[in-house]
Amino acid sequence: MNVTVIGYGNMGSGLARRLVSAGHQVTLTGPSTDKAQAVAQSIDAKMKVLPLEQAAAQADLIIASTPYAEQVKALQSLGDLSGRVVVDISNPLTPDFSGLTVGYTTSAAEEIAKALPGVKLVKAFNTVLAQIFTEGPELSGQRVPVLIAGDDEASKQTVAGLAESLGFAPVDAGPLKNSRNLEPLALQNIWFAYMAGQGTGIAPAWLHRT
Ligand SMILES: NC(=O)c1ccc[n+]([C@@H]2O[C@H](COP(=O)([O-])OP(=O)(O)OC[C@H]3O[C@@H](n4cnc5c(N)ncnc54)[C@H](OP(=O)(O)O)[C@@H]3O)[C@@H](O)[C@H]2O)c1
Repeated sequence: MNVTVIGYGNMGSGLARRLVSAGHQVTLTGPSTDKAQAVAQSIDAKMKVLPLEQAAAQADLIIASTPYAEQVKALQSLGDLSGRVVVDISNPLTPDFSGLTVGYTTSAAEEIAKALPGVKLVKAFNTVLAQIFTEGPELSGQRVPVLIAGDDEASKQTVAGLAESLGFAPVDAGPLKNSRNLEPLALQNIWFAYMAGQGTGIAPAWLHRT
C-alpha cells in the first residue's frame, strides 16, 4: 500500500519504520523536508520525502502523526483530501499529560472530521505508545491491539489490514464517535506508563471468556 505519513516525530518515524519493514511504499512529510529526509535516511534510503503540498498525490492512505492542535492545519496543507482515507492517531493531551483538552462529549477525531468534511476519517493507533513501534508489536506473547473507530466500513477495513500487516491485532471499536472512549483510554495508558511507573511496554487490551 502507498502510505503518506505526516510528521517524523516519535510516532511518525516509528510508523514509517514498521510500514517500510512490512513492504509498504512510504512517503514522509512535514514542515521541514530536511528533518524528514534525515529520518527517512535513518530508516530506508529509498523512502520518499516530499513537501506537504505534494505528499498525498499517490497515497492510498494518509496517517496524520502531528500533535492534535496541528492535525487540521497539517491535513489542509496536503490539499483537497475529499474521499481520501485519513488515519487520526492523536490524543488531545494537556501539556503536562494530566488530562484532555477535548473530550467526553466530543473527541479529537470528531472535531477533525467536522473541520474536513468529505474525508474518510478513521481513528486508530492512538492507544499504542511510540515505543511499541520501535520495540515490537507483541507483549506477553500477544499482538498489541489497534482499536479502530470510524463511520466508513471500507476505510476501517483498509486500516485493519494495514495494522495487521504491521503485526498488530486490529479491533473494530465501532463508529467514529467512540473516539470519545479511545482518547481517554490512551490517557489512562499514559498514566500507567509514566505516572504509575509501569513503563512503556504496555497497551490496553480486552480479556474474553473462552
Ligand atoms: N508518543 C506517543 O507515544 C503517542 C502514542 C499514541 C498517539 N500519539 C499521538 O501521535 C501524535 C504525534 O505524537 P509524537 O509523540 O510523534 O509527537 P512529536 O514527536 O512531537 O512529533 C510531531 C510531528 O508533527 C510535526 N508537525 C507539527 N506541526 C505540523 C504541521 N502543522 N504540519 C505537519 N507536521 C507537523 C512535527 O514536525 P516538526 O518537528 O518539524 O515541528 C513532528 O514531526 C500526537 O497527536 C500524539 O497525541 C503519540
